[in-house]
Amino acid sequence: MDIADHINGKTKTFMLFGNPVEHSFSPVLQNTIAKTVGINSVYTAVKVDDIGEAVKGAYALGIKGINVTVPYKQEVMKHLCGIDKTAQAIGAVNTLKYTDKGYYGYNTDIFGLRLSLKTRGIYLKNKTVVILGAGGAAKAAVALSLSEGAKITYIINRTVEKAQAIKESVLKYFEGEVICGDYDVLDSIDREIIMIQTTSVGMGEGVWESPLKNTEVFKKTRVFMDIVYNPLKTKIMADAESYGLVPINGLDMLIYQGMASFEIWNDMEIDIVTKVDLRDMLVSFYERGR
Ligand code: ATR
Repeated sequence: MDIADHINGKTKTFMLFGNPVEHSFSPVLQNTIAKTVGINSVYTAVKVDDIGEAVKGAYALGIKGINVTVPYKQEVMKHLCGIDKTAQAIGAVNTLKYTDKGYYGYNTDIFGLRLSLKTRGIYLKNKTVVILGAGGAAKAAVALSLSEGAKITYIINRTVEKAQAIKESVLKYFEGEVICGDYDVLDSIDREIIMIQTTSVGMGEGVWESPLKNTEVFKKTRVFMDIVYNPLKTKIMADAESYGLVPINGLDMLIYQGMASFEIWNDMEIDIVTKVDLRDMLVSFYERGR
């Protein structure tokens, strides 16, 4: 469809603020969602140098919804009129919604992660969940694990103090048993696990590295997800495959977190069948674009 056919005086504008944004998949993602569900809106990516000024300017323009990405997901928090509980627990905001008091902040990563698992029939309730890494992305995984009622959540990181810090901050918002440790702790777990890899180790073109030196842990792993989507297959995913697992990459999480932002901005819920259809369409767009 030509852009001139559908942009008119009633078109709502949504935006992504980040730096850099040139390679972002979000415009394709958001414009495809809008077209599929029939909302008259357009989404563009904006390279921002000063997030405070950008938020102020967008508010003056009446922009109804904004995504925020690297490097502003924390910094943007001081420019908002309020922040939802999950985003506070994660300590980062990726979605702003216009209100008459200013922008209200959300974090939709947890929704993206939840749906990536749920659409495959995977639930964390009463399970032993192992999260590799203790950076920004790990916080969403820890918050999801606790909010879903996992039996035990392990946070495994090279630097154990960072795992401890996540445990302390997420436990202010959610309850559950959390054990922190380094990679050696994996040997001592004597039950079946669901593993979510959140480190940056396998990320980037031409990178073939894994944070996991001893892959024996895959013998007790029932589900393995890597939140990385570039590349679509990481070394640790290939290692998981060699133990007969069918690893999940981070592309679904990216797609579903975008749908959650869209739902927040438009006060609507996209039904699950449409969500899964959209996911299939967007995965093939993404794969063709590479
Ligand atoms: P983000 O906020 O994007 O998640 P980050 O805060 O830089 O990124 O965190 C990166 C994560 O990858 C951390 O858990 C980091 O471990 P440390 O806290 O010990 O640094 C992890 N990481 C990076 N390189 C690693 C490596 N070579 N082996 C194991 N973990 C690594």
